[in-house]
Amino acid sequence: MQKIKVWDGFIRSFHWLLVIAIATLYFSAEEGMMELHFVAGYFTLALLLTRLAWGVVGSQTAKLSALLHSPIAALKSFTQTDNKPGHSAAGSYMVLVFFALLLTQLVSGLMTTDDILTDGPLVEYASNQVVEWAGWVHHNNFDLLFYAIILHVVAIVIYRLKGKKLVKAMVTGYADKEDCGSDVKVTKSPWLAVIIFVLLLAGLMMTWGAEPLSYLFS
Ligand code: HEM
Ligand code: HEM
Repeated sequence: MQKIKVWDGFIRSFHWLLVIAIATLYFSAEEGMMELHFVAGYFTLALLLTRLAWGVVGSQTAKLSALLHSPIAALKSFTQTDNKPGHSAAGSYMVLVFFALLLTQLVSGLMTTDDILTDGPLVEYASNQVVEWAGWVHHNNFDLLFYAIILHVVAIVIYRLKGKKLVKAMVTGYADKEDCGSDVKVTKSPWLAVIIFVLLLAGLMMTWGAEPLSYLFS
């Protein structure tokens, strides 16, 4: 069967690194390993900011504009397969929800304190009331993120039962031509995304990340 490349190397790396980062963030918080939590948090921030930039300058299937669909199109995509490369209309809503939840989790984390030793880097600029509120958001938004992940995995399993091999495409980058109904090139080389990511990561690790990194490696 003829294959079409639908996901570029950056989108695929973004996805699977995000899964590893969220697992690390959860376990480090549970185990009280705050230095690891902060370093993983800055890594995730660099990853998400690069994904959003790639949504402007990146591949056709990565574009943020390709994620905008009417609610009617989203409802229709449950019953009809739209056979286009990229996220379905309903899937696009899920992706936007993930971006919003992840941004909320990251920004609230920057203003959260564990009331013992570790403060997010923006705590010193915020009032006590804002820090308390950010901690509440950081705790409760994680629950929403957790439910969104469960729903996401259940949806992927349902698509698989209906015959769509979405995970294989997110691993290899390629989907069956009959599932995407197009052989126009929709992906770009990921190098620009890699450069943006490395610059953002270096900037974050040399500033906010310097202290937790020195703890981790001392
Ligand atoms: C921490 C857990 C997870 C998070 C936060 C997450 C988040 C996301 C996001 C944000 C996207 C959109 C990718 C983009 O356009 O940038 C996506 C797509 C996707 N994810 Fe996940 N994901 C998670 C776990 C998983 C797991 C465990 C699987 C495998 C079962 C999976 C399979 C997929 C697939 C196949 C797509 C592409 C869907 C499509 O073709 O429209 N994800 N995920
Ligand atoms: C997507 C990124 C993140 C995820 C998924 C995440 C997840 C979590 C979770 C699950 C907890 C435990 C919450 C609780 O049960 O009260 C937590 C605590 C915490 N997080 Fe994050 N976090 C993220 C990013 C960040 C960032 C960027 C920072 C700061 C640089 C941060 C700082 C903290 C602090 C200080 C706590 C301790 C709060 C307490 O002890 O009450 N987090 N985080």
